[in-house]
Amino acid sequence: MLNPLKCFGKYLGRYAGIRSLHSSSPLSHDSLFVHRDSPEDNPDTIFEFTPENQKRVDSILAIYPEGHKRAAMIPLLDLAQRQYGWLPLSAMHKVAEILKLPRMRVYEVATFYTMFMRKPTGKFHVQVCTTTPCWLRGSDEVLEACKKNLGIGVGETSKDMMFTISEVECLGACVNAPMIQINDDYYEDLTVDDTNEILNDLKACKKPRAGPRSGRFAAEPLGEPTSLKGDPPGPGFGVRADL
Ligand code: FES
Repeated sequence: MLNPLKCFGKYLGRYAGIRSLHSSSPLSHDSLFVHRDSPEDNPDTIFEFTPENQKRVDSILAIYPEGHKRAAMIPLLDLAQRQYGWLPLSAMHKVAEILKLPRMRVYEVATFYTMFMRKPTGKFHVQVCTTTPCWLRGSDEVLEACKKNLGIGVGETSKDMMFTISEVECLGACVNAPMIQINDDYYEDLTVDDTNEILNDLKACKKPRAGPRSGRFAAEPLGEPTSLKGDPPGPGFGVRADL
């Protein structure tokens, strides 16, 4: 007679065997996940919100009801990063103090999202999306163009502290792939030439035009529309007449 426990054990063994066949190494992100005290980032690094940003802190906190202030964590971390240029340990401690939370709760959030930079970052943070739709449309070439143009690798910052390159997951502009985000702006439908032009403009202190580079206004089809071209067929369209 079949012993269900034995069968289950066999199933688990087989399952474990299948799992063990996976040999791909885990990809590590270029952001720092583990804190090590350094001269520029340690618990004694001074961080205080400026008086102007303190007003912003108060406005952000006012949005959230009592008992739910912790929901302000990401906006406060973002504000701290915008003020300081990146997110030192002491800024995370300040946010924990404001929200009356254990510091660990803030570390968890700040190290999870790639938008938070845990080390000194260039004035222009070049984030190259290399997720599948961008990759299929040439993000490898765009990333190579950034590395070559700036003379730095992924996760590195130029010596003059002007540029940092990061490789990031989908930034939600797949229909305009390939794309990069530089600070708060998206540059889309990129070629290698477009990428070089954008970076050269930034080097020359010019503001490159954000948005698609293909001539599209936004995310409309390139050329003629391919769907939804006629009048809407109205209710009941496609439904069997006998229903
Ligand atoms: S895959 Fe690049 S924006 Fe979505």
